Amino acid sequence: MALSLRASSALLLGARGHALARRGTAAAARPAAAPQRPLITTRAYRDEKGRGEEPKSPPGGKKEPLPASLPHEGGAPQDSLLAFPFARPAAAEPPVEFGQLLASGCPLRAKLFDGTPVWLLAKMKDVKAALVDPRLSKVRTHPGFPELSAGAKAAISDREPTFVDLNPPEHTRLRAMFAAPFERAAVDALRPFIRETVEGLIAGIERKRAYGGHKGPFDLHEEFSLPLAFAVIHRILGIHPEEGRHLSKNVAVRASGSSTARDAAAAQEEIVEFMSRHAAAKEADPSGDDVISSVVRNHLTKGDITRDQLVAHAFLLLVAGNATVASMIDLGVVELLGRPDQLQALRDDPSLLRAAAEEACRFHTASAYALRRVAVEDFELSGAHIKAGEGVIALNQAANRDREAFEDPSVFNIFRNPPPPNVAYGYGTHECIARELSLAELEAAYGGLFSRLPGLRLGVERSELPWSDPRRDVGLAALPVVWW
Ligand code: HEM
Repeated sequence: MALSLRASSALLLGARGHALARRGTAAAARPAAAPQRPLITTRAYRDEKGRGEEPKSPPGGKKEPLPASLPHEGGAPQDSLLAFPFARPAAAEPPVEFGQLLASGCPLRAKLFDGTPVWLLAKMKDVKAALVDPRLSKVRTHPGFPELSAGAKAAISDREPTFVDLNPPEHTRLRAMFAAPFERAAVDALRPFIRETVEGLIAGIERKRAYGGHKGPFDLHEEFSLPLAFAVIHRILGIHPEEGRHLSKNVAVRASGSSTARDAAAAQEEIVEFMSRHAAAKEADPSGDDVISSVVRNHLTKGDITRDQLVAHAFLLLVAGNATVASMIDLGVVELLGRPDQLQALRDDPSLLRAAAEEACRFHTASAYALRRVAVEDFELSGAHIKAGEGVIALNQAANRDREAFEDPSVFNIFRNPPPPNVAYGYGTHECIARELSLAELEAAYGGLFSRLPGLRLGVERSELPWSDPRRDVGLAALPVVWW
């Protein structure tokens, strides 16, 4: 049986109380007869020694206590369900509800923007189990697929599906056509290009200062993180840097939460038109070493893939991860600048770069709402009776703070050795195709910035950074820094 957050507290303090007490959590320390209060306090994200992030009051004041009774299984009235997505209480801190869910150990039914119920999974074991379960589908047109906004729901039907929205075997077939540049050997071969791009961007930053620019803080997000992410994906797609510059603006407008719907739609249209022209040019001359030329040579000509599918996949690869890579560069820089001991260790020993990149991804999990599925048959998962047509969201951000998977999960620590596997890039069939590539970009970014700009520091207090909307993926609209 799936339990409510409150009902689960009784269970925790009963059957599992000893295990938790041994770990010394605030929840376990509470006596079984304690008055009914939300199980998890804001301490959910602190470790046993009290280190880690202490979530503050949410924007707009004190957090309301959780509803007195939350639903068991599927039959509870819809209006008693918690609305999802939950808000981050402040800055980059994960929603406190994630801590509550982890402590309860059970899936929870919540409701989406339109009131549709959805199952939320927080425990690492449940997240992983769901992501390899063929009874959960990725097909977004399937009734009940959990969309997070009316706009996203409306945009689904007329799209040419790409492998990201398909199940095996079609998913496997199409993904394989585009996989080559993201495989480890290809990423290793691309590392010199990534490093050169980092060097070039840093040289540009230094030049600007030398020629009288950058008198105050400048925006590392705009001048470094985004251009690096764009340059790398453009290289893979065979897009010329000149064309890329204009394209990047549209991609940024499309992805920005602050763009109007009309601007975002116009930007999207321009990108699709560009990609159609780009694919046509590659079809006319498929001699390049980019992924589009290779798919034209090996698959389009044989009829394995249609032109429309090729354009849709080129579009997917262009827009899928730039913003997330840029976010993870920013967020890693912020965390490392705030921890001089770890930063110094990283400068002294560049072999720690990979661990730093992995830890930044685990700690922040900047793609936190991507792991959505819909059940295609009834089944049970960790006590939840999931019915066909019900949505399931695997909360990788919560799972990445699961004490059963990580020691001191609320502590940012690049010395985890070896870094325990995290699910920032998903897991199983749909695990991010660009995981290795993105980590290589983060390594090069942190390595380049901290060695070439030793004076790098935040240009404003951490609390004044322009954090993203608390109900969306964690990220920064800008990262003001100084380096002199
Ligand atoms: C730090 C950067 C990134 C993070 C944290 C990230 C995260 C994720 C996650 C969590 C998924 C799994 C979605 C699911 O299972 O439903 C995913 C899938 C995917 N990502 Fe990324 N991603 C990143 C960068 C990129 C980049 C740069 C690209 C561009 C090529 C990309 C392309 C994709 C694609 C195409 C999929 C779908 C894979 C499939 O369905 O088989 N990602 N990503």
